[in-house]
Amino acid sequence: MDEERVINTKAKDGEENWEKSLRPKKLTEYIGQEALRQNLEIMLTAAKQRQETVEHLLFYGPPGLGKTTLAHIIANELGVNLRLTAGPVIEKAGDLAAILTNLQEGDILFIDEIHRLSRTVEEILYPAMEDYVLDLVIGKGPSARTLRIDLAKFTIIGATTKISLLSAPLRDRFGAVHHLDYYTPEELGQIVKRSSGILGVDLDEASMAEVANRSRRTPRVANRLLRRVRDYAQVKHAGKVDVTIASEALNMLGVDELGLDKIDLAILETIIDKFGGGPVGLNTLAAATGEDSETIEDVYEPYLMRLGFLDRSPRGRVATVRAYEHLGKSQAGR
Ligand code: ADE
Repeated sequence: MDEERVINTKAKDGEENWEKSLRPKKLTEYIGQEALRQNLEIMLTAAKQRQETVEHLLFYGPPGLGKTTLAHIIANELGVNLRLTAGPVIEKAGDLAAILTNLQEGDILFIDEIHRLSRTVEEILYPAMEDYVLDLVIGKGPSARTLRIDLAKFTIIGATTKISLLSAPLRDRFGAVHHLDYYTPEELGQIVKRSSGILGVDLDEASMAEVANRSRRTPRVANRLLRRVRDYAQVKHAGKVDVTIASEALNMLGVDELGLDKIDLAILETIIDKFGGGPVGLNTLAAATGEDSETIEDVYEPYLMRLGFLDRSPRGRVATVRAYEHLGKSQAGR
């Protein structure tokens, strides 16, 4: 069910191609995350001047804010290969060994959801990150030996939505740790403008702002809503988009002025109507709304908290005064 939601900040199957065509290729084309962008600029320039491999980098923050995009940009700026993988995909030590031994000097290995690496795989990664060696244990019991293999100097770019789940030893092995934050409406407006140029959609300034304002402060959502508005305009209005048409298209998708959809509203309504405003545990909330608890936690809650509609307390989720106001609910029962 969740896959159908238009505001889901996680990439959907088949969406990669769209993301590829809209993705900026250079740091100078990248909009937003200004402090991070400047820090990267310096790090990359310094490494290029010294002709050294860039230190390992860790990006964390909610989905859809540009962690993978930055990895592509960094590889492109350095003129090196980028290999993409993810924590849950690397099941065994041998899987990681196969990837690492195939890397060439300077290559970048992007590990998405790095918090989901298993303990054993993580332990192979430590010496690989620190000394560019692979210590493999061969055999079992008294006859077991370790075999040390030298690796090419490479860079790991780790990405996670849950920095708190990363072990301290792994985190300490990154030369820089960067947080990606939600974008401002102005930055999203610029992203929508850039993307409509690439897609060839004729949007006026007010419709760009409309799309930007309903995008949950997230470029991936902005680009997805833009493509849906383009479809709507093409089918119903011969392609031209003004703010009325953009609003109609977005209303039809069930996305409100704050970027909330039916599921967001159902989550808040459930907390308020069924649990007296909370606190209510995540799993209970998931069962009561029929949504997956991980999706609620990773996709819905970060933005609801950002809006100040939801609090996470030690005893569970709580709807705030603002949530009551947005839904037009009385707070008498709180
Ligand atoms: N497309 C998606 N994210 C972007 C960003 N941060 N800057 C420019 N274009 C983008």
